[in-house]
Amino acid sequence: MNNNKATAIAHSNIALAKYWGRRDEKLTLPNQSSVSMTLDRFFTTTTVEFKDSLLRDELVLNHHHVHEGTELKWAIDHLDRIRTMAKISTHAHVRSTNNFPTAAGLASSASGFAALSMAGAKAAGLHLNEKELSMLARQGSGSASRSIHGGFVRWNKGERADGSDSFAEQVAASNHWPELRMIVNILSTRTKKWKSREGMANTVESCPYYPAWVKSAEEDTQNAVKAIQQRDFAILGPIVQANALKMHATMIASQPMMLYWDPLTVRLMHEIETWRMDEGIQAYFTMDAGPQVKVLCLEKDEKELVRRLSEIQGIHETVVCKNGPAARLIEEHLF
Ligand code: PMV
Repeated sequence: MNNNKATAIAHSNIALAKYWGRRDEKLTLPNQSSVSMTLDRFFTTTTVEFKDSLLRDELVLNHHHVHEGTELKWAIDHLDRIRTMAKISTHAHVRSTNNFPTAAGLASSASGFAALSMAGAKAAGLHLNEKELSMLARQGSGSASRSIHGGFVRWNKGERADGSDSFAEQVAASNHWPELRMIVNILSTRTKKWKSREGMANTVESCPYYPAWVKSAEEDTQNAVKAIQQRDFAILGPIVQANALKMHATMIASQPMMLYWDPLTVRLMHEIETWRMDEGIQAYFTMDAGPQVKVLCLEKDEKELVRRLSEIQGIHETVVCKNGPAARLIEEHLF
């Protein structure tokens, strides 16, 4: 094989109206459409090289060789998808680094699988367009389908059983709403208790409110896309916060219950609500499958929010994110 090495960067994304639950687990087909904002400050860089001399796939994640476990299995499964598409059987060496904590509800699987898809496809000699890359990334991790694009991105749930209409598309470019901010508060760097895919399977199976969530999430996505296109923060903010709370309500009402929040997560929810209701600071929170609190706001309130957040004990780091760019190939390899 020639030119069998490639490197890609993909940014993580935070869903403004979320995906939680799959109609097809193997193909990662969701029960609802979702919409996200790609983040400029969090990204994964991945180099893939297919090499005839390798006897097995090798994975180095954040400078550590991974010899067993879920991450290795997921990476091999994804390389198998790429090998099947490229009709090759060569093993690969993969090196991947995140510039943020892995698997703590910061969408590392989104940027990780988007970067692996783009670098892996290129290294395998495939020429995939964005739609095909999004569908490939989706099979690694649902949210990764959205990290192929920059800006604001909708992942259409699709109807077909083979998944050929379930891919992500940009709904607005990254310069569409320059005033919008997502302030990411890292409260804990512990890996999460329930990986998203196990967690959502548990919810689909056991939560009595699940059908109501699916219906309401689909509406949230439609309305959030409209609000984004119209740059209407007064409409978008409440949708984002309520959507996250509805998703967490289904997690909490599952058997076994899945409470991803820490005490500090709840404290921040109270603070943000009070700041907005009592003092007019236009901020709304959202949480994913982890304790981190992400605060959606506009540039005008950014400084004051960061100041207030810096006074709260226990927050490891506060990172102000703007809308970020699409996944891309780069020339500098990691090895
Ligand atoms: O793509 P996964 O398997 O990491 O699941 C993502 C689930 C949420 O982050 C909670 C919601 C979303 O749409 O990103």
